[in-house]
Amino acid sequence: MINRTTIDQVFETARVEEVIGEFVHLKKAGSNFKGLSPFVDEKSPSFMVSPVKQIWKDFSTGKGGNVISFLMEHEHYSYPEAIRYLAKKYNIEIEETEQTDEQKQQASARESMYLVSEYARDYFHNILLNTQKGKAIGYSYFKERGFTDEIIKKFELGYALDEWSAFTDEALKNKYNLEFLEKTGLTIVKETKHFDRFKGRVLFPIHSMSGRVLGFGGRILKINKKAAKYLNSPESELYHKSKILYGIYHAKQAIAKEDNCYLVEGYTDVISFYQNGVENTVASSGTALTSDQIRLVSRLTNNITVLFDGDAAGIRASIRGIDLILEQGLNVKVVAFPDGEDPDSFAKSVSTEELKTYLKENSQDFIQFKVSLLLKDAANDPVKKAGLIREIVQSIAKIPSAIQREVYVQECATIMQISEKVLFSELAQIRSKNEDEHAKRPQQKPLALVKEAKEKVVAVNQLVILERHLIEILLLYGNKEADFIDFVEEKNEKDEYETVKKIFTNKVASEVYLHLQDDEIAFTNETFKSIYFEIIHQLNQDKRVSIEHFINHPNPNISMTVSDIFMNDEQYALSDWKRKNIYVKTKEKMLSKLVMDAVYNIRRILIDLKITDLEQSYTTENRKETLGLVVNYKELKRLIFDNLGRIAG
Ligand code: CTP
Ligand code: MN
Repeated sequence: MINRTTIDQVFETARVEEVIGEFVHLKKAGSNFKGLSPFVDEKSPSFMVSPVKQIWKDFSTGKGGNVISFLMEHEHYSYPEAIRYLAKKYNIEIEETEQTDEQKQQASARESMYLVSEYARDYFHNILLNTQKGKAIGYSYFKERGFTDEIIKKFELGYALDEWSAFTDEALKNKYNLEFLEKTGLTIVKETKHFDRFKGRVLFPIHSMSGRVLGFGGRILKINKKAAKYLNSPESELYHKSKILYGIYHAKQAIAKEDNCYLVEGYTDVISFYQNGVENTVASSGTALTSDQIRLVSRLTNNITVLFDGDAAGIRASIRGIDLILEQGLNVKVVAFPDGEDPDSFAKSVSTEELKTYLKENSQDFIQFKVSLLLKDAANDPVKKAGLIREIVQSIAKIPSAIQREVYVQECATIMQISEKVLFSELAQIRSKNEDEHAKRPQQKPLALVKEAKEKVVAVNQLVILERHLIEILLLYGNKEADFIDFVEEKNEKDEYETVKKIFTNKVASEVYLHLQDDEIAFTNETFKSIYFEIIHQLNQDKRVSIEHFINHPNPNISMTVSDIFMNDEQYALSDWKRKNIYVKTKEKMLSKLVMDAVYNIRRILIDLKITDLEQSYTTENRKETLGLVVNYKELKRLIFDNLGRIAG
């Protein structure tokens, strides 16, 4: 783990405008910078960077945050990867928190493996481009396949000389350790001898999401029946075949931007697609798709389009992949290519325009795909048709979201001309059978409860909005004082109790704290909960609420949320200073109402949720009790409305 001092130092040193400036063309606009959104195609700039606050906001996608969150969004780095990137850029030495000797050794072994792999990539690429044999054999092979110089450089393609140990000898001469040459599989060690694994092959370096070299795929050039056409790096601490997608590093930005990922089989498919303008393409490299690979894509998009060759083996392999993608909760489409064509050959035979049109016009959702595949021989055979329907419903049953399942059932009903009711009961059967198989999975609710569940989702969403609003109030006005109204029971002259309106002056944050504590309200959203407790902690230590503390917070969810709140506030400043003055004035004048509204509205929704829960748990046995509670909660809700009304009045 990177230690706190390093992280702090990175935050102190890094300038958001400098870092983003490397990816986005920024122009000064008042005290801010403006540019075209790097996340969508747009003509007028909606992307803002505030050097004063050290935050950014993309108004066309709603994304925003600090310097780290930019790198996470744009480069798809993990948090530590982003810290390491900045440390490197600003020459900050990374200190790790205490590691055991074993951990240290492991980390440095892995790092050494990376260094050897990156050396190998450069070495093979150089052989390809700058040596006589490399040019005559490797380079000319790629040229024959139609790859441009630009693409050869971009994908860092290489060539290994057809000699027993040319690479290993050179690496050893350059002081690379044989241990790591062997561990990465670049060198095969036999007693005292060593051999180059990839001898005589053209090489495709395989990158991680952040661009480090994990391994290689090597294609043979001679026709040799005994040797495999492609040879890949062996499994190692860096190279886990089931967790790698070839091309992900080059494709990631296009995948996020297009909100779709094309999945192909091979190295050359990826490269040909990229060269022909379809950059959002990755390959599972000839193996069956795994759930780890799907999760890798799901960091970038929820949509996968599977492309496959026209042959039968290709179709069968992609059907398995489709169910796996559905199971992970992603949306899947399918494109088939004409007989005898694979994505590589097809991409080479058409223009960019034609390729894109073909993909668009031939993409089917998985139901259409399965139907078109199997309907031919099932058309007039009711038994076969029933089998086909069952097969489709089996796929639908794998989808985790109930709403999504419902949509697909409707579609299937239309295409197959069968009633939804029948499909739903088939679906319920399959799911309950599946559940018996995986007893651990949560119980599927009967359809009747779906509507209630949806209402609950709406209430929870409202709650999140209100919680965010309360956090916004605390951050913007937590330090300010305001007059608050309270209602207390007091005896009047006639010795009767009476509700009396009182006015107290209090700090906004303290007032919120008092109310939430009174009602034992906890934030449901984890990020808001953490922010809230840190604000209260700051106040308890008699400090002011510190904005920088939150913007540079090591928890990226917190820093993103807070900088987003501030950038939205900034938006008012940018659009109209005068309006902003008015806005702030009225906002502060009405501060106490703002606070009370937020607190009471949260209470109201929490009560609604409570009532829904009670109604759902209603049985003949607990009838009396449950009804009693529901009545109490409804009464409480009425009181809250009364109070809200009185404050407003
Ligand atoms: N593959 C592999 N090992 C093999 C054969 C294939 O790892 N022995 C992987 C490679 O990633 C390859 C992909 O499966 O790119 C698809 O295989 P294939 O269709 O045979 O290769 P192509 O990509 O079409 O290769 P080429 O066009 O170079 O013949
Ligand atoms: Mn091919």
